[in-house]
Amino acid sequence: MKTPIRLQQIAWTLAACAFSAVAAAADAPPGKPLFTTRCGMCHQTNGMGVSILSRRPADASKGLLEARDDLSAEFVYVVARMGTGNMPRISRAEVSDEELREIALYISRGKP
Ligand code: HEC
Repeated sequence: MKTPIRLQQIAWTLAACAFSAVAAAADAPPGKPLFTTRCGMCHQTNGMGVSILSRRPADASKGLLEARDDLSAEFVYVVARMGTGNMPRISRAEVSDEELREIALYISRGKP
């Protein structure tokens, strides 16, 4: 009698895991994986963007774009298209308008 109960528990645990994996995927903003592939080489971990932005005199906490809450989507969009300082402009051939909008929304935490 013991084995079937344990199997049932395992089945429930697996079902719960599968459900939370689906829920987590649904919560993840689409801009995050795009940001990682298109901008992450400079703006994540030890990227050039992180170290240069961290060296700005006013505030060393500005290095990681993903950790900031002071950026609007429009600012991110315009900076990416125009380039700034040591950052080259990102063309539509590299990142489409739609992709850049998703990225900007993600980095700005939804602030237009
Ligand atoms: C080749 C490396 C590189 C890539 C790729 C890159 N950036 Fe940058 N980015 C930089 C550097 C370096 C700076 C700092 C420029 C400076 O002040 O000289 C910067 C600055 C910025 C800033 C300005 C932040 C501020 O506080 O003024 C934003 C916004 C930004 N990047 C967004 C993006 C987005 C979005 C992408 C991807 C679509 C991207 N960057 C791709 C290197 C890069």
